[in-house]
Amino acid sequence: MNPFSYGTIVKEPYYYNRYEECKRIVSTLAGGNNLVLFAPRRYGKTSLVFRAIEELEKRKFTCIYFDFLPVYSRESFIESYSKAILKKQNNLEKAVKKIAGLIKGIRPKLVFDQMSNPEFSLDFTDEKVSEKTLEDILDLPENLASKEKKYIIIFDEFQEINKLNGENFENLLRSKIQQQKNVNYLFLGSRTHLLNDMFNNKSRAFYNSAMLMQIETLPKNETIEFLKDRFLQSNITIDEPVALNLIDQAGNIPYYIQLLAAEIWQYIVALHQVVSNEVVSLCVERIVDLKNDYYFELYDRQSAYQKKIFKALLISGENVFSSEYTKRHRLSATSTTQKAILGLIESGIIEKVSANYFIADPFFKRFLSRYA
Ligand SMILES: Nc1ncnc2c1ncn2[C@@H]1O[C@H](COP(=O)(O)OP(=O)(O)OP(=O)(O)O)[C@@H](O)[C@H]1O
Ligand SMILES: [Mg+2]
Repeated sequence: MNPFSYGTIVKEPYYYNRYEECKRIVSTLAGGNNLVLFAPRRYGKTSLVFRAIEELEKRKFTCIYFDFLPVYSRESFIESYSKAILKKQNNLEKAVKKIAGLIKGIRPKLVFDQMSNPEFSLDFTDEKVSEKTLEDILDLPENLASKEKKYIIIFDEFQEINKLNGENFENLLRSKIQQQKNVNYLFLGSRTHLLNDMFNNKSRAFYNSAMLMQIETLPKNETIEFLKDRFLQSNITIDEPVALNLIDQAGNIPYYIQLLAAEIWQYIVALHQVVSNEVVSLCVERIVDLKNDYYFELYDRQSAYQKKIFKALLISGENVFSSEYTKRHRLSATSTTQKAILGLIESGIIEKVSANYFIADPFFKRFLSRYA
């Protein structure tokens, strides 16, 4: 079995570090505060939060994890949110009855699947979901919680509530959250600039409503130890400088580190070799080749000016709006650059950390440099 794992929520032995962060999440929420967790894509937010959930459940909190990504309407929110809440109830039948009395405008019911397992489903009684129904569902955790049985709601990809547009939903949720005594909230998401705007913009409902926490990349020395250990399981050796090179090639981003390491393992496992820099480079190219069609389409979709910006970013992502940068890369007016960069951030192709802009996927970066 490949000793590396990527693309899903990871646990030990595929998970390391972030113990302090986990403690902080647990103590903030257990202490009755709300928290928002920031980090660019694929840094390990969801995995970290699942670890925190385990801890919180040990302390008898009821944790409801809810992902906003698949939500596309008020109805779909109500349906999947109530399902997520019901999943955590011991007596499903009793809970369904209770919910029927608590939420106006829905008719919840239990159906049985082919294996005779009970499943929850609901009908809407009115043609259009009313504000009241939405209010009731947002109050549901508070109505099920008690002083002895507190709830913690985890909203992943929270920036997606923009889809439900908008402000109305945001305002309503904010006011509900403020009133609730036995429920706390953890917000996280991968579109840092959108989340940032929600929580740091004075004119937005969630301004100042939660403590902020940022997670960074994993410390390189621990990543090196992790790589050495995991490769050693299959009698493969990797020296420190090569491990460092692997980390750099993967942009020091947890997901890409494990993706590249998994590819290297697959390439080398039968040979029981030492991982060399040549092998690292070869595997980087293999990954880029595998994704070539996808990357090509992605590249093709961008405007000519955005392609020009890619070229500039391959060289540097610092001071991109300075006159020197503009001159050096023959860019247009700052406002044009800003617009193009914003578009690339919106589509998740580039990320901004501190004042530095970079291409989010290190293998797409490598793809681009083939043509630069
Ligand atoms: N603590 C960790 N130790 C080792 N690898 C990790 C860790 N956290 C994350 N990873 C790697 O990163 C991958 C992505 O993790 P996860 O889905 O938790 O990140 P995310 O920030 O929620 O990503 P997204 O932005 O796509 O939602 C994992 O599959 C794993 O390969
Ligand atoms: Mg995630």
